[in-house]
Amino acid sequence: MKQITDQVLVIFGASGDLTYRKLVPALFDLYIQDLLPENFRVLGVARSDFSDDSFRKKMSEGITNYSSLYHSRKEELDYFLSSIHYLSINTDNPSDYSTLKSELEQLDTEYKTDGNYLFYLSTPPSLYPLIPRYLALQGLNKKEGKIRRIIIEKPFGTDLISAINLNQSLLADFEEDQIYRMDHYLGKETVQNMLVTRFSNSIYEPLWNRNFIHHVEITAAESIGVENRGGYYDGSGALRDMVQNHLLQLLAFVAMEPPSVIGSDAIRNEKLKVFQAIRPLSHENLLTDVIRGQYIASKVKGVMEGGYREEKNVNPESRTETYIALKMFIDNWRWGGVPFYLRTGKRLPTRVSEVVIHFKPAPLNLFGGDESNRGNTLVMRIQPDEGLLLKTGMKVPGSGYNVKEVNMDFHYSQLQDTYLPSAYERLLLDAMLGDPTLYTRGDALESAWSFVQPILDYWQENPEAPLYGYPCGSWGPEGADKLIEGKDITWRYPCKNLSDDGIYCEL
Ligand SMILES: NC(=O)c1ccc[n+]([C@@H]2O[C@H](COP(=O)([O-])OP(=O)(O)OC[C@H]3O[C@@H](n4cnc5c(N)ncnc54)[C@H](OP(=O)(O)O)[C@@H]3O)[C@@H](O)[C@H]2O)c1
Repeated sequence: MKQITDQVLVIFGASGDLTYRKLVPALFDLYIQDLLPENFRVLGVARSDFSDDSFRKKMSEGITNYSSLYHSRKEELDYFLSSIHYLSINTDNPSDYSTLKSELEQLDTEYKTDGNYLFYLSTPPSLYPLIPRYLALQGLNKKEGKIRRIIIEKPFGTDLISAINLNQSLLADFEEDQIYRMDHYLGKETVQNMLVTRFSNSIYEPLWNRNFIHHVEITAAESIGVENRGGYYDGSGALRDMVQNHLLQLLAFVAMEPPSVIGSDAIRNEKLKVFQAIRPLSHENLLTDVIRGQYIASKVKGVMEGGYREEKNVNPESRTETYIALKMFIDNWRWGGVPFYLRTGKRLPTRVSEVVIHFKPAPLNLFGGDESNRGNTLVMRIQPDEGLLLKTGMKVPGSGYNVKEVNMDFHYSQLQDTYLPSAYERLLLDAMLGDPTLYTRGDALESAWSFVQPILDYWQENPEAPLYGYPCGSWGPEGADKLIEGKDITWRYPCKNLSDDGIYCEL
């Protein structure tokens, strides 16, 4: 394991939700596991008026509510909180960054943090190009022999052009190897386990190609709606919020070639090749292979639930998609002709993210019956109930040859004493260690946007393009099933529809 260097983690947007719910609780959990550097400080930066004490009080509450390892460890909590500091500056104002520089120098002197800084941008995205520039104006972007890294939260751009522009503006002051673009899906153990499943088992990889795989399904379903993020979401939608980043990252892990070593360049090179091989959607594909939907008011288990257009800060005539399903191909030797189906949506019956590999059925249905030759299915469950599940045919005891589909499964929860770290723990630790493997490289990010951009353009130019209403608690628009070709083949439904209403409509 790499040596972890003494450093200050500077969190911009420290008064916000992400810092409170995810970042500081994850840091506390790292501290409990003794994974933080010996000399380590957190400096929260935002405009709000906090003292060190009042900020620590707020963070204490965040840790108590959201840390996985708190378990009433009051003494450790107090000690950890004493390593947290707060600085109020106007983050929009370049001249305020001289105050930040002085504060960092003071922390270095007092706490031996040695001039190493990791900057975490957890602010509104409009500040992503500005903060790095203002840091550079104070010479905080580079110093010989010192760590200067920057983590950028999602969303990284709102379209291809804005992503390219943001990359260019960051690269004006930081080198690519100093830039860590966050995609918290990559920090999930189960996503990394996809590489281990594929490349440490000799039985899967020989089958992992067009000869044996019929199709691949990637699902990220949420049961909640937009909650209090209506304003942000209405300008974003499911394609930008989930597909461009998380789902395409999962696709890259499923489809990439084995890297020559487990190292950041090797893995990220292979992922880039996948993005470069995705077949661009033609005009015809945009009509037939992309289904968008929006949840509408309906009864869920007898209770009336509001639709998307009734959500706070959402345009009552909004055509923003809260659901998208698409069919795509990767035009390379391994995957030629294998369809990949991606879907994500809000207000679906359950929260689940999974990758499902559907193997081709055996060449002959020897035993007859529905379940006797379905084709095996490998489900890689990313959340919740993380694990791996292989569906296989088994003879039902008794006379004749009746076949039943059964599961061979592993759940992470079975590893009773093994702690499953949160994605933010893993990713923060990696950035502190200087390992960018699980962060997105600029070229791959632009490549992913290149695939998505024609869909955005099409919707922009054709606002009347179909948008299907689906009831809250259902699995999305009915038309999404028709994307998947083949007799009796539909999406995998990990649980039943919860909606009492069968209302589906075009909006
Ligand atoms: N929350 C999540 O679960 C989550 C998940 C994934 C990604 N993200 C991303 O992470 C970033 C932070 O999310 P968040 O949920 O923590 O947002 P938030 O609650 O709105 O916090 C943003 C923070 O930025 C600060 N800020 C600094 N300059 C600002 C300015 N000019 N205008 C407005 N605010 C300014 C605000 O503090 P002051 O007003 O005190 O300056 C505020 O505390 C966002 O880009 C979001 O997309 C969040």
